[in-house]
Amino acid sequence: MSHVSNINQLKHQIMSTLSVAEKHLDKLGYLDLEVDPTLDLFEEIEKLKKEKNAIILAHYYQEADIQDIADYIGDSLGLSQKAADTDADIIVFAGVHFMAETAKMLSPKKKVLLPDLKAGCSLADSCPPPLFRKFKEKYPEHVVVSYINCTAELKTLTDVCCTSTNAVHIINSIPEDKEIIFAPDINLGRYLQKTTGREMVLWNGSCMVHEIFSAEKITKLMMRHPEAKLIAHPECEAHILEKADFIASTTGLLNYTKKSDATEFIVATEAGIIHQMQKASPDKTFIPAPPNNTCACNECPHMRRNTLEKLYLCMKYELPEITLPDWVIKEGVASIDRMLEVSKKAGL
Ligand code: 13P
Ligand code: SF4
Repeated sequence: MSHVSNINQLKHQIMSTLSVAEKHLDKLGYLDLEVDPTLDLFEEIEKLKKEKNAIILAHYYQEADIQDIADYIGDSLGLSQKAADTDADIIVFAGVHFMAETAKMLSPKKKVLLPDLKAGCSLADSCPPPLFRKFKEKYPEHVVVSYINCTAELKTLTDVCCTSTNAVHIINSIPEDKEIIFAPDINLGRYLQKTTGREMVLWNGSCMVHEIFSAEKITKLMMRHPEAKLIAHPECEAHILEKADFIASTTGLLNYTKKSDATEFIVATEAGIIHQMQKASPDKTFIPAPPNNTCACNECPHMRRNTLEKLYLCMKYELPEITLPDWVIKEGVASIDRMLEVSKKAGL
């Protein structure tokens, strides 16, 4: 067989493997293709970034390798701000589905890729839009504030979004005479009621990662490390937050560990953030707060569906891609724009 027909046969084989993988995309959530184990994925991903004018935005809860290859690593607010004003043609979102949807709503003309479409979120899932629509009908005059960890469709039923970084500012920006519905995270909602003094109608949703920290194991850890500061994300339950020395969003926690004189920290949030904490403060010790199960640390199974291989494949074939109906983008983006405006005014 000639060299040309060999190449054609190989091309044909590659195309048919790709079309099989595309057919299975909906079921699996990602392209199920072999990745050559000898490839240097860091190098290949860098090449693809340049070739395609793509930017990788990664959340702090991604595995360390993904954080290290990302162009921007941040919390939900930082990631939304970046998605709204990038010049890249393609946004590769190394995070979960609602985050990639938010990026698509903010930059609808850009291609937004997510390495695994099944990287969901228990908190977003705990508030199905049809149920919330009915719930909201009972409070027709209330302003709806939704934590950004919700689906794009829920954002169409929302007046203003918030993240854990700006939630207090968002609540305080709502006139005193207006009543508020807060969805979907009941733990963040309770924390906000306490810090802002505003009574709110709360939706009963929660994050599977932040609600399973063990108060008993944390107490034992604190006894073994009496100098350590317990730092916690406000998605944690009240009995964990009560023990905390400091409560903030992931970026807030990271900044605290950089500035604090303490040298030991018990970290009550997803363990991925410790990668940046350790990089910023190599001489300090970070202990992941233990959950109520047999694991020593707490990882989000949704965030961890993304791998370096899936990231490489999704950039190479530009799949899976996030698409949203036009009406969802049109009706949902206002709630994110309002959030960004308040954050800008507050200097966040
Ligand atoms: P932040 O990154 O805004 O702190 O949110 C944490 C989280 O649970 C993201 O899924
Ligand atoms: Fe959702 Fe919780 Fe995972 Fe964040 S950590 S993506 S809120 S399940």
